[in-house]
Parts: sequence; C-alpha cells; structure tokens
Amino acid sequence: MRTLLWKLIENGSLSADEWESLISCEDPDFSEELKSQAASARDRVYGRKVFLRALIEFTSYCRNDSYYCGLRRSSSAERYRLSHDGILSACSLAYDLGFRTFVLQGGEDPYFTDERMASLICDIRSSFPEAAITISIGERSEESYRRMKEAGADRYLLRHETADSSHYKVLHPASMSLENRKNCLRVLKRLGYQTGAGMMIGSPGSSYRTLAEDMLFLQDLRPQMVGIGPFIPHHDTPFRNEPQGSVDLTLRMLSLVRLLDPHVLLPSTTALGTADENGQIRGLDAGANVIMPNITPMDARRKYSIYDNKKISGDEAAENLGYLKAELEAHGYIAALERGDYLS
Ligand code: 5AD
Repeated sequence: MRTLLWKLIENGSLSADEWESLISCEDPDFSEELKSQAASARDRVYGRKVFLRALIEFTSYCRNDSYYCGLRRSSSAERYRLSHDGILSACSLAYDLGFRTFVLQGGEDPYFTDERMASLICDIRSSFPEAAITISIGERSEESYRRMKEAGADRYLLRHETADSSHYKVLHPASMSLENRKNCLRVLKRLGYQTGAGMMIGSPGSSYRTLAEDMLFLQDLRPQMVGIGPFIPHHDTPFRNEPQGSVDLTLRMLSLVRLLDPHVLLPSTTALGTADENGQIRGLDAGANVIMPNITPMDARRKYSIYDNKKISGDEAAENLGYLKAELEAHGYIAALERGDYLS
C-alpha cells in the first residue's frame, strides 16, 4: 500500500485498480500515514492558511429531481429566492466581515436567466472589484457560462456527483446525464473558470469501484477545486431510509484528492461537519484547506435543506466568524479571508 502511495505522490496518477486498492484500505496506520502526507502536501503549497468563502444560498427553486437532494422538484421544501438587491446586500455584509470570495449557490432555477445572472454578476463585480465571484447553479449552456464569465465570474462549482454512468442513473432521473454534466465541466474549464467538480461519499449504490472512477475522472479533468462530503439522507426524498456515508472514508478521499493535486482548493464541507461534530477540523487535518461559512439570511438559510440536520448556526455560520477563527487557530491553522486563488 505504501508503494502505491509513493507512486501517487511521484506521478500524480494511478490506474482504476490502484485507486480502488488505496480507497478500500481501512488499516488505521495507513490512514494516519495518508493523512499526514496529505497535510504536508497542502502545507508545502498553501501553508497553514484555510481560505474562507462566504456562501450565499440565493435560490432554493430547482427544476431537477435528483433522488438524494432535499431541494429536488418533488420535495415539499418551502421555496424562496433572494432579490437582486438582497443578494448584493449579502455580498456587502460578507465584504464588511472581510470575505473576498462570494459563492452564489442555488438550485437550477429558471427565474435566473442569463440576463439576470449577468446583471447580478456585473453589479457585484463593480461594487467589489477585488473580490472573487464563484457561481454554483448547475448545468447551463455554453453561452450562459460565457456570459457569466464575461460579466465577471471567476470560479464555478459543479460537482459531477459520481463518474460512473450506471451509478449516475441510480442517483438521477433519466432527464439528467453524466455525459452532459462532464461536458459542462469541460466547457467551464475551457472558458477559463477555476472549476470545481466533486462527489458525495457513500451515496446509495456507490462502492470503492465508483470512487475509483471518480478519481480517474478527476485525474483526467484536473479541476482547481473539488467538493467532497458524505451522503446524508433527507426525509423527503426516495433515499430517506438509506444509510449516511462514512466519515472515515470521506476523510481518506479528501487526503487522496489532495495527493492527486497538492494545489487543489479543497473544502472541508458542511456535510462533513454535520455528519461528525468535529468533522470540519478533521477534514482540514486530512488535507482540506477551504471552509465556506454561510452568510445566507437566516429565514432563507433554514429553508435551504439539502439533507437532514444541516447545520445552520454552528462554527460554519458567518455570524460566528470570530469563533471559527479562534477554533482554526487553536488547531494550528490561519483563517485567510483573501481571494485565495488556485496557485498553479
Ligand atoms: N447529502 C449530502 N450531500 C448532498 N448534496 C445534495 N444532496 C445531498 C445529500 N442528501 C450535495 C450534492 C450537491 C451539493 C450542493 O450538495 O453533491 O452538488
């Protein structure tokens, strides 16, 4: 196993079988080794900085019906969308708190046409010229991605969810396809976005093999960001009775992604913090280097329920920024509010 680990560190790529052996190895000594290699790889590139991004969940409407997601079209979630000015004031609040990255995330909401997105991004760009703008609103046309880029967006998050096409069908209705999703990611990269892919860990039907496929896909796409969190069931979805994804496996996957690309911007996600009380710090210790405190207005934030028990007012909430900074420092990290671009 150590030979494979060294091969990964030296070559930055492995075969599907090699990935599967690494991913499936549950030996605690090996997990410790993996974690410490991943943390050193991160430290060599970014030091002990943890980049903080202000997350604005600006619409909970979604035209899709993904079987795992609490915001799927068929769920009875109460919907909201923030207004243009509401989004700008959330950015302003984030800016005043010191954030220099805003992440605008939402469901696939047809209300936010290309015109509306472009005008929103333009206004954010001119009000906060030195801040990075990250968009995360799912699959759109190449033209749409281009217009948002020209309006001033810098980064785009679009998790591929799983790179195994038959597993993709277990997670999504037939109206969605893995090919389309992968294509969106390739377009985003080509347009010059810092691009984020990613997957859930332990989603129904997943296996060490599907995770190995995810690693092969990441190895080929080379995204600048990778979002990874455990699957957590939501009571109003077909997966309500499915088990939660493993925290330990999520931590191992974070370390492997860090070793695949030591430069990757890798969030320690809210899902990880929800699945384990100490999850977000454990994620950093496994090699992550980004946290996305939530700055969505509280009444909206409550309604943005993608899985059950999602934390809304813990360390990850922007109101508790002081507490988060202290917590990071106590664990030997430095809270960094700067843009925190991918260093190539
Ligand atoms: N558990 C964990 N993560 C989920 N997501 C959606 N539903 C769930 C769930 N039940 C993740 C998806 C999506 C991101 C915004 O949240 O990976 O891309």
